Amino acid sequence: MIVSLLCSNTRETSACPTKPKVYGRDQERNLIISKLVGEESGRQNLSVLAIIGDGGVGKTTLANVVFNDSAVSNHFNILLWVYVSVYFDQAKIIHKLLESLTGNDHEHIKGLKELQSILGSAVKSKRVLLVLDDMWEDSQKEKWDELLTPLLSNDVMGNKILVTTRKPSVAKLIGAADQINLDGLKQDDFWLLFKESAFGDENYKGERKLLKISKDIVVQLKGNPLAAKSVGRLLIKKINVDFWEKVRDASEWKQQEDDYDIMPALMISYKYLPVHLQQCFSYCAVFPKYYKYEKERLVNIWIAQGLICSADMHKRLEDIGSEFFSDLVEWGFLQKEFEFMSLHISCMILFMIWHRRFHLTRASP
Ligand SMILES: Nc1ncnc2c1ncn2[C@@H]1O[C@H](COP(=O)(O)OP(=O)(O)O)[C@@H](O)[C@H]1O
Ligand SMILES: [Mg+2]
Repeated sequence: MIVSLLCSNTRETSACPTKPKVYGRDQERNLIISKLVGEESGRQNLSVLAIIGDGGVGKTTLANVVFNDSAVSNHFNILLWVYVSVYFDQAKIIHKLLESLTGNDHEHIKGLKELQSILGSAVKSKRVLLVLDDMWEDSQKEKWDELLTPLLSNDVMGNKILVTTRKPSVAKLIGAADQINLDGLKQDDFWLLFKESAFGDENYKGERKLLKISKDIVVQLKGNPLAAKSVGRLLIKKINVDFWEKVRDASEWKQQEDDYDIMPALMISYKYLPVHLQQCFSYCAVFPKYYKYEKERLVNIWIAQGLICSADMHKRLEDIGSEFFSDLVEWGFLQKEFEFMSLHISCMILFMIWHRRFHLTRASP
């Protein structure tokens, strides 16, 4: 039984079976799978693994590859995926887990003890893999323990929790026995990913000048897949030497704060976004951090704010807004969220992480 759950907001993820090609990561994938299903794995009732790494480095992607691996799905009776993000609400997670396991979220039950007991019964005698994606909570241990209690009471050995996080302090709090520190992709894999993003062909062998510029740009991207995809999407829109040189020589690269900083790449992508899309995207910053955006609602707000105009009387503003929305998805500024169970598609803001810094940068004289 595979269930995917979404608890909240930004760059929300799910265990979606149809994903673009994943480059490299074989070693990490095999390591995690062996920890989940290997002989050793069944010695404890419940153990926790953590994938730790910077934003965009590929933690969710790796967890997803593992989650969808047949060795893993055959080993566990129940596989659950929960997108956690900043607010770790153990009761909400339990409600969501119950909904997926029993078809009833038991919303009327507010008492944590009762919820824990129902969840304990629902997972009883079944080996469980729970993926908690993008966890940030690193101080309130009691919340973590409350989520764990029903899983710990399971009478089957070898239950696992796989957590992805940017913060080593999270791995510490949850007592992760195994920690996988994820770095950028290796050079060869990264080069393939870049060519796929910028040329639409990982085997591109065409114009030498473009390839030479690409090599210079790739150095700045630090092996980070999100950065490669973002800049690649920009470059592929205008495949010509002049434009690519402009991107390569952009002043933003100089603002790199450390070896893992991908902000310049994201800022350059934003800089070349058409102005009307920049405005619509920037407007999203007025919402609280981690607000989840619904397409229709967002388009209506853009219209109310006067961000969408039409020179064509026969074209509805809603339709134009909808096109802007799709354009932002295509540029990678909004990311589609697939809900595994229903395949309902909505969208949310991708780059709120860099939004704040971007605004700070722009605000300074
Ligand atoms: N190994 C990879 N091969 C191809 N694309 C990748 C790889 N790792 C990550 N990506 C892409 O990079 C982007 C960011 O990856 P993600 O897993 O969301 O990063 P993180 O969870 O570390 O923030 C996504 O668009 C994802 O598809
Ligand atoms: Mg992630």
